Amino acid sequence: MVNICELLEIEYPIIQGAMAWIADASLASAVSNAGGLGIIASGNAEAEWVRSEIRKTKEMTRKPFGVNVMLLNPHAEAIMDVICEEGVPVVTTGAGNPGKYIPKLKSLGIKVIPVVASVALAVRVERVGADAVIAEGQEGGGHIGDATTMALVPQVVDAVKIPVIAAGGIADGRGIAAAIMLGARGVQVGTRFLVAKECTISQNYKDMILKAKDTDTVATGRSTGHPVRVLKNKLARDIIAMEKRNADLSEIEKIGTGALRAAVKDGDVVNGSVMSGQIAGLVCKEQTAKEMIEEMFEEAKAIYENRAIVCGARGTIHGNG
Ligand SMILES: Cc1cc2nc3c(=O)[nH]c(=O)nc-3n(C[C@H](O)[C@H](O)[C@H](O)COP(=O)(O)O)c2cc1C
Repeated sequence: MVNICELLEIEYPIIQGAMAWIADASLASAVSNAGGLGIIASGNAEAEWVRSEIRKTKEMTRKPFGVNVMLLNPHAEAIMDVICEEGVPVVTTGAGNPGKYIPKLKSLGIKVIPVVASVALAVRVERVGADAVIAEGQEGGGHIGDATTMALVPQVVDAVKIPVIAAGGIADGRGIAAAIMLGARGVQVGTRFLVAKECTISQNYKDMILKAKDTDTVATGRSTGHPVRVLKNKLARDIIAMEKRNADLSEIEKIGTGALRAAVKDGDVVNGSVMSGQIAGLVCKEQTAKEMIEEMFEEAKAIYENRAIVCGARGTIHGNG
């Protein structure tokens, strides 16, 4: 079985989740410098913005990093060309099957890791040559599927031979250890990195994450077929009210347009979209990306070394064996 660290030439098996409007050269380079894989999120951006972030990232780190391409972005093809021209080592993809891009990416040695929310898509992307898959559960922030991480990861692990990276609801060493126990070879973390010191979002956004409790997120857009996990605020309540009265899709889309940008850049956490995973309740301190990664893996290591204790107080398993 391929080792994620060897495959991606990183030190810790952790990928920083792509986050549109958020994951730029600053965050991506900090995560890569800390030994994980930093990802630039291209979201709905144009190709030349992506090129400029790639070049900034190259100035800020000599370590491998990746670019996330949302396949529904009208500029996706141009962004893939930029990725090839700039020799980005890794591509993660969202919203579909990147099959048509894979031959060119692979001919250039670029690793392709699609994000999937179902076994069916995992099998399809393996068939077209993906190097690994990120199985993302609906606990995660942003656009989500239906299955939970706990249920999805082992099913994807059983269905494919390529390595599986678990995402959704992981923010500390316990989450990493659990993901590994489910058969994942690594993790992708989004929400915790929102409050990284190198994450350039508004302080209002960070404060809302830091104060969030376990039940503070909600998935809006289930009725439209495009669920998005966000922290509850006025915008989320308005969208849910519109969904309840079966408002037009165009009306719902209109109110959501530009909303993530408003929260990220302008700090409007009332009418803006504060995307976040359910694990926000566990995210209580601002740290550098390096501190976060080292802390998470120290915790995971301690759990692994003391796993007899973790297995149960009744001591059915003794010692460290
Ligand atoms: C604010 C925000 C924006 C996101 N944007 C994207 C994106 O543009 N592309 C993508 O593939 N995933 C996106 N995601 C999902 C993350 O990459 C990651 O898989 C997810 O956050 C993992 O779950 P967690 O939030 O519980 O850590 C986003 C998540 C958040 C919180």
